Amino acid sequence: EGPNLRFDGKVAVVTGAGAGLGRAYAHLFAKYGASVVVNDLGTSHSGTGTGHNAADVVVNELRALGAKAVANYDSVEDGDKVIETAIKAFGRVDIVINNAGILRDKSFVRATDADWDLVQRVHLRGTYKILKAAWPHFLKQKYGRVVNTTSAVGLYGNFGQANYSSAKAGIIALSNTLALEGRKSNIIVNTIAPNAGTRMTATVMPPEMVEALKPDYIAPPVAYLCHESNTSHTGGVYEVGSGWVAKVRQQRSGGYGFPVNGKLTPEQVASKWSEITNFDDGRATYPTTTGESFMAVQGNFENVAKESEPLSGKQLSFSPV
Ligand code: NAI
Repeated sequence: EGPNLRFDGKVAVVTGAGAGLGRAYAHLFAKYGASVVVNDLGTSHSGTGTGHNAADVVVNELRALGAKAVANYDSVEDGDKVIETAIKAFGRVDIVINNAGILRDKSFVRATDADWDLVQRVHLRGTYKILKAAWPHFLKQKYGRVVNTTSAVGLYGNFGQANYSSAKAGIIALSNTLALEGRKSNIIVNTIAPNAGTRMTATVMPPEMVEALKPDYIAPPVAYLCHESNTSHTGGVYEVGSGWVAKVRQQRSGGYGFPVNGKLTPEQVASKWSEITNFDDGRATYPTTTGESFMAVQGNFENVAKESEPLSGKQLSFSPV
């Protein structure tokens, strides 16, 4: 038998909780004893229209289970109003799940400024505004648990999703920085890249895949990361879906240091390109801080060649434009 990871007395704000993944989070937190703010703008998958129904339905489901739940219908772009609902209804906020999202998929050449701006506003700015409003409460109570939502697309890119992938990548960077700033105050910040059968993916997935990718598989790892017993796992990115959970990290090749007492030319870079990009020579590392990152750069300060090396590599020609 494992530990009993209850959330009694804790207040969880889940954005976009009227459907899909957000609804699954709201249900799990409620089942495990948390009071839940069900935020949902009630908008279409492309961010058109608004309504109260999505949030109300989930609030009623949670109350029917005997849980404490309140609705909030504001856009996450007005994050202060969402957090205000938690404070008014329950007097505190302990957990924030930034999950609300929309899509405006179009090839880069066809996408408009409006498609770019709306997707950036809902995902990156929405996540920022919610956290900006919750953060002072977290600092004051020396407690906070955050899970932000990126996507595999934010890690690897995807055709037709320049707006969405860049906002999702921004969310990873925001999470990494807030994980550092929150550490001293017991504020834990992680990011997940989910794969789930929801209305967001139902149009592009066959029904049996939607079934295999139940949102109920995403909620448990999210809840685990948000539990008070997790005091050390912060700043992580996790890919989750269909009951599979994994952590992602960045790998850096050992690289090649050119002597600092010579002139570095494009030809020299070209001649060492296979060393620069080699991950398989046993020298690759997994830096997790900017300090670690800089150490390799600093290590080359002393790289002075004894006698000038002959220029290696084929001469590249740059014709004037
Ligand atoms: P969904 O479309 O089923 O649910 C999203 C909910 O967010 C909707 O109820 C919508 O009304 C709400 N919402 C949209 N804009 C809002 C705003 N400005 N303020 C408040 N609420 C708003 O989507 P799904 O699949 O549950 O996605 C949840 C999150 O997971 C999103 O951030 C999405 O980008 C991300 N994601 C989902 C994947 C999947 O496979 N389903 C894959 C990768 C990421």
